[in-house]
Parts: sequence; C-alpha cells; structure tokens
Amino acid sequence: MSTNGIVHAEDLVKIYRMGKVDVKALDGVSLTIPEGEFLAIMGPSGSGKSTLMNLIGCLDKPTSGTLLVDGQDVGKLSDRRLARLRGRTIGFVFQTFNLIPRISALDNVLLPMGLVGAIPKSQRRRRAVRLLEQVGLGHRVTHMPNELSGGERQRVAIARALANDPKLLLADEPTGNLDTKTGRAILELFRELHRQGRTIVLVTHDPDVASCAERIVRLVDGKIVDVQVQPSAIERGTRVSVGQGQGQGAGGGGEGSRGAA
Ligand SMILES: Nc1ncnc2c1ncn2[C@@H]1O[C@H](COP(=O)(O)OP(=O)(O)O)[C@@H](O)[C@H]1O
Ligand SMILES: [Mg+2]
Repeated sequence: MSTNGIVHAEDLVKIYRMGKVDVKALDGVSLTIPEGEFLAIMGPSGSGKSTLMNLIGCLDKPTSGTLLVDGQDVGKLSDRRLARLRGRTIGFVFQTFNLIPRISALDNVLLPMGLVGAIPKSQRRRRAVRLLEQVGLGHRVTHMPNELSGGERQRVAIARALANDPKLLLADEPTGNLDTKTGRAILELFRELHRQGRTIVLVTHDPDVASCAERIVRLVDGKIVDVQVQPSAIERGTRVSVGQGQGQGAGGGGEGSRGAA
C-alpha cells in the first residue's frame, strides 16, 4: 500500500443526481498522495474540492473510477467496512468546526474514541486531555463549545480529528471561518502535525496557507488542471529527517520530482 500512497485515485468521477439533472462534480481525477505528504487543494468555488475530500474521507463513494485509501478499495467496501476505515484511518476537520454543542471539549474529543474502539478504554480520558493540551487547550478541557472562541473551537475539532490516531488528516477550508491571525495559528498547528509524520490534505482559498504545503493541486470544473511541487516547503524543513535516506546522493532529486507528480 505504501508504494501506491495512502491515497491512490484513478479516473475518479462523482456525479450527483439532482432529479433529472446530473451534476458532474468530479470528472476524471487521478492523484496519488504518499504517506507523510502535506498536500493543499485549491480551486474556485464549485470546482469539486469538497467532493474530492468527502471521497478521500470515505464519507461518500465514487460514481466510477478507483479510489484506494490505505490500500482499501473504497468503492467496493460495504458501508460497515467503509465506516470502520473512516473511523480508524481518517480525521476530518471542517470549516464550521461541527462540534457537538452541549458537551464539553473533552467529551467532544472522547466521542470518536467511543465510536471506533481502537483506543483502550483505560487510556481514552488521558489521551483526550493530552490531545487538547497538544492543540494548546489544556486550560479549556471542561468548556462547552459556546464558551470557546472560533479558533479554540477549531483546535477542539483538530484534537477530535486526532482522537483515534488517524494516519490521514483531512481539512476542508479549516481557516475559512477564522480571522487571519487565528487562521495562521491553526495553520501552524497543521504544520506541527505534519512534522510529526501525519499525512495532511488541506483545502484552502488562501495562497499563503497553500504555500505551507509540499504540493498544491488545482481543481477547475472537477478536473485537476495544475500540480505544483514546492521544493522550498520541503527544504524548509519538515521531512528531511523522515524517510529521506535514499536517493539523496543522486543530486537534483528535488528538481526532478517537479512535474513528475
Ligand atoms: N450533495 C450534492 N448534491 C448535488 N450537487 C452537489 C452536492 N455537493 C456538491 N454538489 C455540486 O457539485 C459541484 C462541486 O461542489 P463542491 O465539491 O462542494 O465544490 P467546492 O468544494 O470546490 O466548492 C458543485 O456544482 C455543487 O453544486
Ligand atoms: Mg467546498
């Protein structure tokens, strides 16, 4: 599975049936996301970004084409197996946070642990507190979502997304509802999670946010129209020590990868 990446999509098509009208939201997307990558997806409104994220996030199935997530063929899984893959492999962060309103930050983070059962019961509470501390909310554990600022809510949502220790963290415009300064802080959190080895796929309208990614994929009308590898983002540091042992001596490996993706 690692040779094919944690996500491997081939000729992915998603058509929404709206009564008599078909909306082709994705029109033949092929994309491989290696484990450990920080990928940004950009594109105008309606270009299919969320649709692609929902497919990668196993929230929906493709109309046609192949989608492998962590080696499993999403289109062929039963709903139960799909939910299991989603619960164990994927953490999802949304623009609107989507926290459960009347339970504490801690309980919001505990909830997915209870649903999936991958983390032993005896460790859940400690883990949830630790995750909240990791996102800078150690002092807000018992707060309700409506007692938190937007940035703090998104931090809870990120801690919740990490609850079951997913390999893949998906974020659909996670800074879209935040002011610039708060958005920067959230972005820094994603960069830190990436440095720790997490695979991150982030949808954004903000070129500054996208510039933190190693690769930027642009969608227009459900098609990938541009792939931009950002060697500078890699050199800036994050992955040099992680699995970069081979091919270092070849020289120009960095430039060589441009366009090949
Ligand atoms: N559940 C749905 N039912 C019908 N059409 C949808 C649905 N979700 C998205 N679409 C349509 O699919 C296209 C892509 O939408 P979306 O993936 O949300 O784009 P983006 O996230 O890039 O703004 C749009 O034309 C949108 O109206
Ligand atoms: Mg969207």
